Amino acid sequence: MTVSLKSLIEGWEGIGVVSRYDQPTGSWIFIALHDDTLGMPTGGTRMKVYPSPALALQDAMRLAAGMTAKWAAVDLDFGGGKGVIAVPHILEGEERHGLLLRYGQLIESLNGSFGTGVDMGTTPEDMRVIKQATSRVHGVDPETGQTIDPGPFTARGVFAGMRAVVRQAFGTDDLTGRVVHIQGVGDVGAPLARMLKQAGARIVLSDLDTRRAESLAEALGNTEAFEPHTALEAPCDVYAPCAVGATLNAETIPELKCRAVVGSANNQLATREDADRLHERGILYGPDYIVNAGGAIAFGLRGRGIVDEQAIAQRIDGIDTSLTEILKESSASNESPVYAATRVVERKLGKK
Ligand code: PHE
Repeated sequence: MTVSLKSLIEGWEGIGVVSRYDQPTGSWIFIALHDDTLGMPTGGTRMKVYPSPALALQDAMRLAAGMTAKWAAVDLDFGGGKGVIAVPHILEGEERHGLLLRYGQLIESLNGSFGTGVDMGTTPEDMRVIKQATSRVHGVDPETGQTIDPGPFTARGVFAGMRAVVRQAFGTDDLTGRVVHIQGVGDVGAPLARMLKQAGARIVLSDLDTRRAESLAEALGNTEAFEPHTALEAPCDVYAPCAVGATLNAETIPELKCRAVVGSANNQLATREDADRLHERGILYGPDYIVNAGGAIAFGLRGRGIVDEQAIAQRIDGIDTSLTEILKESSASNESPVYAATRVVERKLGKK
Protein backbone atom coordinates (compact mmCIF):
# COMPACT_ATOMS: atom_id res chain seq x y z
CA MET A 1 0.00 0.00 0.00
CA THR A 2 1.46 3.34 -1.07
CA VAL A 3 -0.48 5.64 1.19
CA SER A 4 1.71 8.45 2.60
CA LEU A 5 1.11 11.05 5.27
CA LYS A 6 1.62 13.71 2.62
CA SER A 7 -0.94 12.37 0.16
CA LEU A 8 -3.47 11.76 2.92
CA ILE A 9 -3.21 15.28 4.30
CA GLU A 10 -3.24 16.85 0.84
CA GLY A 11 -6.29 14.85 -0.16
CA TRP A 12 -8.43 15.37 2.93
CA GLU A 13 -11.50 17.55 2.97
CA GLY A 14 -11.71 17.69 6.79
CA ILE A 15 -10.85 20.58 9.10
CA GLY A 16 -7.38 19.32 9.89
CA VAL A 17 -5.27 16.87 11.78
CA VAL A 18 -3.41 17.27 15.05
CA SER A 19 -0.43 14.98 15.13
CA ARG A 20 2.07 14.22 17.81
CA TYR A 21 4.79 11.65 18.27
CA ASP A 22 4.96 10.43 21.84
CA GLN A 23 8.66 9.86 22.33
CA PRO A 24 8.60 7.97 25.65
CA THR A 25 6.45 5.18 24.19
CA GLY A 26 7.19 5.52 20.47
CA SER A 27 3.50 6.04 19.67
CA TRP A 28 1.96 8.21 16.98
CA ILE A 29 -1.08 10.22 17.98
CA PHE A 30 -3.49 11.58 15.37
CA ILE A 31 -6.59 13.58 16.16
CA ALA A 32 -8.58 13.98 12.96
CA LEU A 33 -11.06 16.85 13.04
CA HIS A 34 -13.50 16.33 10.21
CA ASP A 35 -16.43 18.71 10.51
CA ASP A 36 -17.83 21.13 13.08
CA THR A 37 -21.01 22.28 11.33
CA LEU A 38 -23.20 20.85 14.10
CA GLY A 39 -20.84 21.20 17.06
CA MET A 40 -17.56 20.26 18.63
CA PRO A 41 -15.76 17.41 16.85
CA THR A 42 -16.28 14.43 19.12
CA GLY A 43 -15.45 10.78 18.72
CA GLY A 44 -13.78 7.87 20.42
CA THR A 45 -10.09 7.14 20.74
CA ARG A 46 -8.80 4.00 19.08
CA MET A 47 -5.57 2.41 20.25
CA LYS A 48 -3.96 -0.15 18.01
CA VAL A 49 -0.77 -1.38 16.42
CA TYR A 50 -0.75 -0.18 12.80
CA PRO A 51 1.64 -1.27 10.05
CA SER A 52 2.58 2.40 9.50
CA PRO A 53 1.76 5.88 10.86
CA ALA A 54 0.10 6.71 7.52
CA LEU A 55 -2.38 3.86 7.91
CA ALA A 56 -3.17 5.10 11.41
CA LEU A 57 -3.84 8.58 10.07
CA GLN A 58 -5.99 7.16 7.30
CA ASP A 59 -8.03 5.25 9.87
CA ALA A 60 -8.43 8.40 11.99
CA MET A 61 -9.63 10.40 8.97
CA ARG A 62 -12.17 7.79 7.89
CA LEU A 63 -13.43 7.28 11.42
CA ALA A 64 -13.75 11.05 11.94
CA ALA A 65 -15.84 11.37 8.77
CA GLY A 66 -17.99 8.52 10.05
CA MET A 67 -18.58 10.45 13.27
CA THR A 68 -19.77 13.51 11.33
CA ALA A 69 -22.35 11.32 9.61
CA LYS A 70 -23.31 9.55 12.83
CA TRP A 71 -23.98 12.70 14.84
CA ALA A 72 -25.90 14.27 11.98
CA ALA A 73 -28.05 11.19 11.45
CA VAL A 74 -29.10 11.06 15.11
CA ASP A 75 -29.71 14.79 15.38
CA LEU A 76 -27.19 15.54 18.09
CA ASP A 77 -25.19 18.74 18.02
CA PHE A 78 -21.68 17.36 17.86
CA GLY A 79 -19.19 17.34 15.00
CA GLY A 80 -17.02 14.62 13.54
CA GLY A 81 -13.63 13.81 15.00
CA LYS A 82 -11.64 10.81 16.09
CA GLY A 83 -8.44 10.06 17.95
CA VAL A 84 -6.08 7.30 16.95
CA ILE A 85 -3.08 6.25 19.02
CA ALA A 86 -0.79 4.01 17.02
CA VAL A 87 1.25 2.13 19.59
CA PRO A 88 4.36 0.08 18.74
CA HIS A 89 2.92 -2.80 20.79
CA ILE A 90 0.11 -3.10 23.32
CA LEU A 91 1.09 -0.91 26.24
CA GLU A 92 0.29 -1.63 29.85
CA GLY A 93 0.93 -0.28 33.33
CA GLU A 94 2.98 2.86 33.80
CA GLU A 95 3.76 3.22 30.11
CA ARG A 96 0.11 3.21 29.14
CA HIS A 97 -0.79 5.53 31.99
CA GLY A 98 1.85 8.07 30.97
CA LEU A 99 0.81 7.98 27.32
CA LEU A 100 -2.85 8.49 28.21
CA LEU A 101 -2.02 11.43 30.47
CA ARG A 102 0.02 13.09 27.72
CA TYR A 103 -2.79 12.38 25.27
CA GLY A 104 -5.21 14.06 27.70
CA GLN A 105 -2.91 17.08 27.92
CA LEU A 106 -2.86 17.31 24.13
CA ILE A 107 -6.67 17.29 24.04
CA GLU A 108 -6.77 19.88 26.80
CA SER A 109 -4.45 22.16 24.79
CA LEU A 110 -7.02 22.13 21.97
CA ASN A 111 -9.32 24.06 24.27
CA GLY A 112 -12.62 22.59 23.23
CA SER A 113 -11.89 21.59 19.65
CA PHE A 114 -12.15 17.88 20.35
CA GLY A 115 -13.93 15.60 22.82
CA THR A 116 -13.43 11.87 23.13
CA GLY A 117 -14.47 8.57 24.68
CA VAL A 118 -13.96 4.83 24.38
CA ASP A 119 -13.32 3.11 21.08
CA MET A 120 -11.65 -0.10 20.00
CA GLY A 121 -8.52 -0.75 22.04
CA THR A 122 -9.31 1.70 24.82
CA THR A 123 -11.31 1.05 27.98
CA PRO A 124 -13.54 3.08 30.29
CA GLU A 125 -10.62 2.90 32.76
CA ASP A 126 -8.34 4.56 30.17
CA MET A 127 -10.88 7.38 29.94
CA ARG A 128 -10.60 7.92 33.67
CA VAL A 129 -6.86 8.49 33.20
CA ILE A 130 -7.34 10.88 30.27
CA LYS A 131 -9.91 12.71 32.34
CA GLN A 132 -7.21 13.62 34.87
CA ALA A 133 -5.73 15.88 32.21
CA THR A 134 -8.82 17.17 30.44
CA SER A 135 -12.53 17.51 30.98
CA ARG A 136 -13.25 16.74 27.31
CA VAL A 137 -14.04 13.09 27.95
CA HIS A 138 -17.34 11.24 27.69
CA GLY A 139 -18.17 8.27 29.84
CA VAL A 140 -16.70 9.30 33.18
CA ASP A 141 -19.10 10.78 35.69
CA PRO A 142 -17.58 14.08 36.89
CA GLU A 143 -18.96 13.66 40.39
CA THR A 144 -18.66 9.96 41.18
CA GLY A 145 -15.80 9.16 38.80
CA GLN A 146 -17.83 6.14 37.67
CA THR A 147 -17.20 5.00 34.14
CA ILE A 148 -19.75 4.17 31.48
CA ASP A 149 -19.08 1.55 28.83
CA PRO A 150 -20.72 2.53 25.53
CA GLY A 151 -20.66 -1.11 24.31
CA PRO A 152 -24.07 -2.24 25.58
CA PHE A 153 -25.68 0.96 24.26
CA THR A 154 -24.15 0.39 20.86
CA ALA A 155 -25.34 -3.23 20.98
CA ARG A 156 -28.87 -2.07 21.76
CA GLY A 157 -28.78 0.17 18.69
CA VAL A 158 -27.48 -2.62 16.46
CA PHE A 159 -30.30 -4.82 17.72
CA ALA A 160 -32.84 -2.12 16.79
CA GLY A 161 -31.19 -1.71 13.38
CA MET A 162 -31.21 -5.44 12.84
CA ARG A 163 -34.94 -5.57 13.41
CA ALA A 164 -35.46 -2.92 10.75
CA VAL A 165 -33.27 -4.74 8.24
CA VAL A 166 -34.73 -8.17 8.97
CA ARG A 167 -38.26 -6.79 8.60
CA GLN A 168 -37.38 -5.33 5.23
CA ALA A 169 -35.52 -8.44 4.03
CA PHE A 170 -37.87 -11.14 5.32
CA GLY A 171 -41.20 -9.39 5.82
CA THR A 172 -41.20 -10.04 9.59
CA ASP A 173 -38.92 -8.87 12.36
CA ASP A 174 -39.41 -12.01 14.40
CA LEU A 175 -35.87 -13.14 15.14
CA THR A 176 -36.85 -16.63 16.27
CA GLY A 177 -34.65 -19.11 14.45
CA ARG A 178 -32.87 -16.46 12.38
CA VAL A 179 -29.19 -17.26 12.08
CA VAL A 180 -26.96 -14.32 12.92
CA HIS A 181 -23.21 -14.49 12.48
CA ILE A 182 -21.48 -12.09 14.84
CA GLN A 183 -17.92 -11.40 13.79
CA GLY A 184 -15.98 -10.01 16.74
CA VAL A 185 -17.30 -10.65 20.22
CA GLY A 186 -15.81 -7.75 22.13
CA ASP A 187 -17.48 -4.87 23.88
CA VAL A 188 -20.39 -4.71 21.44
CA GLY A 189 -20.47 -8.18 19.87
CA ALA A 190 -20.84 -9.99 23.19
CA PRO A 191 -23.82 -8.02 24.56
CA LEU A 192 -25.38 -8.13 21.09
CA ALA A 193 -25.10 -11.92 21.08
CA ARG A 194 -26.91 -12.08 24.41
CA MET A 195 -29.73 -9.82 23.24
CA LEU A 196 -30.19 -11.80 20.04
CA LYS A 197 -30.12 -15.10 21.87
CA GLN A 198 -32.81 -13.82 24.18
CA ALA A 199 -34.90 -12.85 21.15
CA GLY A 200 -34.69 -16.44 19.90
CA ALA A 201 -32.03 -16.05 17.21
CA ARG A 202 -29.45 -18.74 16.49
CA ILE A 203 -25.98 -17.35 16.93
CA VAL A 204 -22.79 -18.17 15.09
CA LEU A 205 -19.65 -16.48 16.41
CA SER A 206 -16.17 -15.79 15.20
CA ASP A 207 -13.31 -13.75 16.61
CA LEU A 208 -9.61 -13.36 15.86
CA ASP A 209 -9.27 -14.45 19.45
CA THR A 210 -10.74 -17.94 18.99
CA ARG A 211 -10.76 -18.65 22.70
CA ARG A 212 -12.92 -15.60 23.32
CA ALA A 213 -15.44 -16.78 20.70
CA GLU A 214 -15.45 -20.30 22.11
CA SER A 215 -16.01 -19.25 25.68
CA LEU A 216 -18.91 -16.96 24.74
CA ALA A 217 -20.41 -19.74 22.60
CA GLU A 218 -20.23 -22.04 25.57
CA ALA A 219 -21.78 -19.49 27.91
CA LEU A 220 -24.65 -18.86 25.49
CA GLY A 221 -25.26 -22.53 24.79
CA ASN A 222 -26.39 -24.00 21.47
CA THR A 223 -24.03 -21.62 19.70
CA GLU A 224 -21.29 -22.37 17.21
CA ALA A 225 -17.88 -20.68 17.14
CA PHE A 226 -15.96 -20.58 13.86
CA GLU A 227 -12.29 -20.05 13.13
CA PRO A 228 -11.89 -16.53 11.71
CA HIS A 229 -10.60 -17.70 8.30
CA THR A 230 -13.56 -20.00 7.69
CA ALA A 231 -16.12 -17.66 9.21
CA LEU A 232 -17.38 -16.17 5.95
CA GLU A 233 -18.33 -19.63 4.77
CA ALA A 234 -20.85 -19.95 7.57
CA PRO A 235 -24.31 -19.61 6.00
CA CYS A 236 -26.50 -17.19 7.93
CA ASP A 237 -29.45 -14.83 7.55
CA VAL A 238 -27.61 -11.83 8.94
CA TYR A 239 -23.90 -11.14 9.05
CA ALA A 240 -22.96 -8.73 11.83
CA PRO A 241 -19.41 -7.36 11.59
CA CYS A 242 -18.61 -6.06 15.07
CA ALA A 243 -14.85 -5.58 14.95
CA VAL A 244 -12.52 -3.81 12.54
CA GLY A 245 -13.65 -2.00 9.39
CA ALA A 246 -13.35 -2.82 5.70
CA THR A 247 -14.42 -6.45 6.06
CA LEU A 248 -16.80 -5.89 3.13
CA ASN A 249 -14.72 -5.65 0.00
CA ALA A 250 -14.31 -6.95 -3.54
CA GLU A 251 -12.91 -10.24 -2.24
CA THR A 252 -15.27 -10.97 0.63
CA ILE A 253 -18.59 -9.83 -0.82
CA PRO A 254 -18.79 -12.64 -3.43
CA GLU A 255 -18.15 -15.10 -0.57
CA LEU A 256 -20.91 -13.89 1.72
CA LYS A 257 -23.67 -16.38 2.42
CA CYS A 258 -26.22 -14.08 4.02
CA ARG A 259 -29.27 -12.00 3.13
CA ALA A 260 -28.34 -8.95 5.14
CA VAL A 261 -25.41 -7.19 6.79
CA VAL A 262 -25.96 -5.25 10.01
CA GLY A 263 -23.20 -4.75 12.53
CA SER A 264 -21.44 -2.32 14.81
CA ALA A 265 -18.05 -1.99 13.11
CA ASN A 266 -17.21 1.47 11.83
CA ASN A 267 -16.43 1.81 8.10
CA GLN A 268 -17.51 -1.68 7.12
CA LEU A 269 -17.26 -1.01 3.39
CA ALA A 270 -13.71 -0.87 2.04
CA THR A 271 -14.84 1.41 -0.80
CA ARG A 272 -18.01 3.11 -1.92
CA GLU A 273 -18.43 0.56 -4.76
CA ASP A 274 -18.83 -2.17 -2.18
CA ALA A 275 -22.27 -0.77 -1.39
CA ASP A 276 -23.28 -1.48 -4.99
CA ARG A 277 -21.61 -4.89 -4.90
CA LEU A 278 -23.77 -5.86 -1.92
CA HIS A 279 -26.86 -4.46 -3.57
CA GLU A 280 -26.20 -6.38 -6.78
CA ARG A 281 -25.91 -9.58 -4.79
CA GLY A 282 -29.26 -8.86 -3.16
CA ILE A 283 -27.72 -8.44 0.28
CA LEU A 284 -29.43 -5.73 2.29
CA TYR A 285 -26.93 -3.47 4.08
CA GLY A 286 -27.72 -1.41 7.18
CA PRO A 287 -25.31 1.55 6.85
CA ASP A 288 -22.79 1.33 9.69
CA TYR A 289 -23.05 4.84 11.09
CA ILE A 290 -26.85 4.56 11.27
CA VAL A 291 -26.76 1.16 12.95
CA ASN A 292 -23.88 1.73 15.38
CA ALA A 293 -24.94 5.11 16.78
CA GLY A 294 -26.18 3.73 20.13
CA GLY A 295 -23.01 4.58 22.04
CA ALA A 296 -22.85 8.05 20.53
CA ILE A 297 -26.52 8.61 21.41
CA ALA A 298 -25.89 7.59 25.03
CA PHE A 299 -22.82 9.82 25.35
CA GLY A 300 -24.32 12.69 23.40
CA LEU A 301 -27.51 12.80 25.46
CA ARG A 302 -25.58 12.55 28.74
CA GLY A 303 -23.34 15.35 27.51
CA ARG A 304 -26.48 17.44 27.12
CA GLY A 305 -27.69 16.61 30.63
CA ILE A 306 -30.12 13.83 29.72
CA VAL A 307 -29.28 10.93 32.03
CA ASP A 308 -32.64 9.18 32.28
CA GLU A 309 -31.99 5.57 31.26
CA GLN A 310 -35.43 5.14 29.76
CA ALA A 311 -35.13 8.27 27.63
CA ILE A 312 -31.71 7.15 26.38
CA ALA A 313 -32.97 3.63 25.59
CA GLN A 314 -35.94 5.04 23.71
CA ARG A 315 -33.79 7.28 21.62
CA ILE A 316 -31.49 4.36 20.77
CA ASP A 317 -34.46 2.18 19.82
CA GLY A 318 -35.42 4.97 17.41
CA ILE A 319 -32.64 3.64 15.15
CA ASP A 320 -35.27 1.11 13.99
CA THR A 321 -37.55 3.90 12.76
CA SER A 322 -34.87 6.01 11.08
CA LEU A 323 -33.33 2.99 9.38
CA THR A 324 -36.75 1.77 8.24
CA GLU A 325 -37.27 5.07 6.44
CA ILE A 326 -33.90 4.78 4.76
CA LEU A 327 -34.60 1.18 3.71
CA LYS A 328 -38.00 2.08 2.27
CA GLU A 329 -36.53 4.90 0.25
CA SER A 330 -33.76 2.68 -1.10
CA SER A 331 -36.11 -0.11 -1.96
CA ALA A 332 -38.28 2.34 -3.92
CA SER A 333 -35.26 3.59 -5.87
CA ASN A 334 -33.67 0.12 -6.09
CA GLU A 335 -30.29 1.20 -4.79
CA SER A 336 -28.07 0.54 -1.81
CA PRO A 337 -29.34 2.08 1.45
CA VAL A 338 -26.00 3.90 1.63
CA TYR A 339 -27.31 6.53 -0.80
CA ALA A 340 -30.45 7.35 1.15
CA ALA A 341 -28.39 7.48 4.36
CA THR A 342 -25.96 9.91 2.74
CA ARG A 343 -28.87 12.11 1.69
CA VAL A 344 -30.15 12.20 5.29
CA VAL A 345 -26.73 13.30 6.51
CA GLU A 346 -26.32 15.95 3.80
CA ARG A 347 -29.73 17.36 4.59
CA LYS A 348 -28.90 17.64 8.28
CA LEU A 349 -25.58 19.29 7.52
CA GLY A 350 -27.36 21.74 5.27
CA LYS A 351 -25.45 20.65 2.20
CA LYS A 352 -28.49 20.06 0.04
N1 PHE B 1 -16.48 4.97 19.82
C1 PHE B 1 -17.90 4.82 19.79
C2 PHE B 1 -18.43 5.27 18.41
O1 PHE B 1 -17.70 5.28 17.44
C3 PHE B 1 -18.56 5.49 20.97
C4 PHE B 1 -18.31 6.97 21.11
C5 PHE B 1 -19.19 7.85 20.59
C6 PHE B 1 -17.23 7.46 21.83
C7 PHE B 1 -19.02 9.21 20.75
C8 PHE B 1 -17.06 8.82 21.98
C9 PHE B 1 -17.95 9.70 21.44
O2 PHE B 1 -19.57 5.57 18.22
